[in-house]
Amino acid sequence: MRHFSSSFRIWHWLQAVLMFGMFITVLLRTTVMHKEQIGGIVQSRLAEIGTVITDEQAVLIGKAVRSPMWDWHIYMGIALAVLLVWRIAMVLKNGFGFDNNPAMQKVYRLYKAFYAVLAAMSLSGLVLYWKLAGESKATVETVHMVLGWSLFAFMAVHIIGVVLAEKSDQKGLVSRMINGRE
Ligand code: HEM
Ligand code: HEM
Repeated sequence: MRHFSSSFRIWHWLQAVLMFGMFITVLLRTTVMHKEQIGGIVQSRLAEIGTVITDEQAVLIGKAVRSPMWDWHIYMGIALAVLLVWRIAMVLKNGFGFDNNPAMQKVYRLYKAFYAVLAAMSLSGLVLYWKLAGESKATVETVHMVLGWSLFAFMAVHIIGVVLAEKSDQKGLVSRMINGRE
């Protein structure tokens, strides 16, 4: 049975909270805080009081309103990149800490894939934030978006998987991830 050290548990829950936070920022950006949606509301309200603005101006206002919310994507993204470095340091020092349970080997491969995708997300995110992509900007954005959604899918699969493991042959798994006891 795997032992979860206190630093690993702190790392795990910080990462879980931040990943949920990232999901919320993306959800807001693509729904109620969509720049065109906000811009459209401002545009129609201004029209009611006799001020006409163009669609482009409306989108600019939409982006400006969205901006303080989206800053959180950047803060939490940078924090996640730092957490990834922390996890890499743990792995270099003590290995992954996976056990030999044959039923879990596929899951452990999925965790390794998760780390690889997280590394690609951190790099592509920073490249976009620092505007380093040049002519490849659209490609980097697409890679970042598609991989980002794959991480959100991982979260769903992971949580369902943990619940199923807890209910079948790994009773106490979640409790061990919280308080570390064997
Ligand atoms: C309520 C939500 C969650 C619960 C109860 C939970 C619980 C667990 C447990 C029990 C493990 C150990 C599983 C094992 O030994 O195979 C684990 C591992 C892991 N969790 Fe979560 N988790 C949650 C949310 C998340 C979220 C949101 C993320 C971020 C995407 C995440 C990322 C990971 C990763 C990457 C591992 C593997 C770490 C490693 O062994 O290197 N978890 N989680
Ligand atoms: C696990 C980590 C991350 C996830 C899951 C994630 C997810 C996403 C997703 C899904 C989008 C597309 C939003 C849309 O539909 O418009 C996006 C956009 C973006 N992300 Fe991240 N991201 C992560 C890390 C980062 C980091 C570390 C940074 C930079 C510090 C960053 C900066 C950006 C920027 C600047 C955009 C906007 C790109 C554009 O204009 O299209 N992200 N992210």
